[in-house]
Amino acid sequence: MRVFSGIRPTGELHIGNYLGAIKQWIELQEKNECIFCIVDLHAITTPYQPERLQENIMNLAIAYLAAGLNPERCILFVQSQVKEHTELAWLLGTMTPIGELQRMTQFKEKKKKHPEYVNAGLLNYPLLMASDILLYQTDLVPVGKDQKQHVELTREIARRFNKRFGKTFKEPEVLLPKIGEKIMSLQNPKKKMSKTDDPQGCIELFEKPEEIKNKIMAAVTDPGREIKYDPKKKPGISNLLTIYSLFSGKSIKELEGDFKGRGYEEFKKSLIKVLINYLEPFRQKRKRLLKRETFIKEILNQGAKKARLIAQSTLENVRKKMGLI
Ligand code: AMP
Ligand code: TRP
Repeated sequence: MRVFSGIRPTGELHIGNYLGAIKQWIELQEKNECIFCIVDLHAITTPYQPERLQENIMNLAIAYLAAGLNPERCILFVQSQVKEHTELAWLLGTMTPIGELQRMTQFKEKKKKHPEYVNAGLLNYPLLMASDILLYQTDLVPVGKDQKQHVELTREIARRFNKRFGKTFKEPEVLLPKIGEKIMSLQNPKKKMSKTDDPQGCIELFEKPEEIKNKIMAAVTDPGREIKYDPKKKPGISNLLTIYSLFSGKSIKELEGDFKGRGYEEFKKSLIKVLINYLEPFRQKRKRLLKRETFIKEILNQGAKKARLIAQSTLENVRKKMGLI
């Protein structure tokens, strides 16, 4: 199966990105043909600092590698290095009703958050994402729940294109993690964990042990003292149980049993240990990679070369079908 996914280089990765997306990518790379992208053209649709963009791209590449993506098993590349993405996005835009873009939840949310920066790129964001996915004849798109709607729109766009111009694109399927599709903020368990919305509620992938400890100890819990999974009545503890389960490999049922009658503090202390142990090798690997900039750039250049070959072939076919060649 062909797998494609991407993350915006907008700052540090957090454990929501890891559990919602990257953890699945690592498993998928063993048996599939995987392509993972650093989507810099998506990152510039919200306010950003141009002088920091290259650094953020490098940091994300390092995070991909430190978390376990293997450049021998998958293609890693930067979106803006493969020009076919923007060209296909334009072509898809000529056959997508504006209404379909305007009703996207992410567009509505971003519009509310940055009323001073509602640019056309933000509206067209899903067209570029559809183009990312369709250029590679993708079968599976592993993402967190917030991106499901965009993948569904991509399917609709592919279907419409195929109907009008003849079979050209594969219709991709979204792949959500069974649990962890939406990791919530530690400070406000009714909102998703997000690095930009509230840093205190968010644990970064390379967070220092001391900070992990502080943030988990300060995490909002719920009335009562029972460790029980009940997202409606106990959103705080349920979120922590989800995190614990995914990082320890133990099921939520098992954890409820282990912590029966033991209270929140003991549970939090144990979770801190699990997190620190799991994330420590990532921190070590990142430290080593920080010194290997040339090596990383080479991986990205090689990745872009391989991606370009596939993208060019799809785009040539699209141009033919649309009467452009
Ligand atoms: P972004 O940082 O928005 O580019 O997101 C990158 C990937 O992480 C996407 O697949 C998102 O769906 C996923 N993701 C982001 N935040 C969360 C979260 N709180 N829980 C689960 N997945 C998430
Ligand atoms: N929009 C995605 C996000 O915000 C990132 C993304 C861009 C993506 N292109 C993609 C994800 C293609 C999967 C496939 O997280």
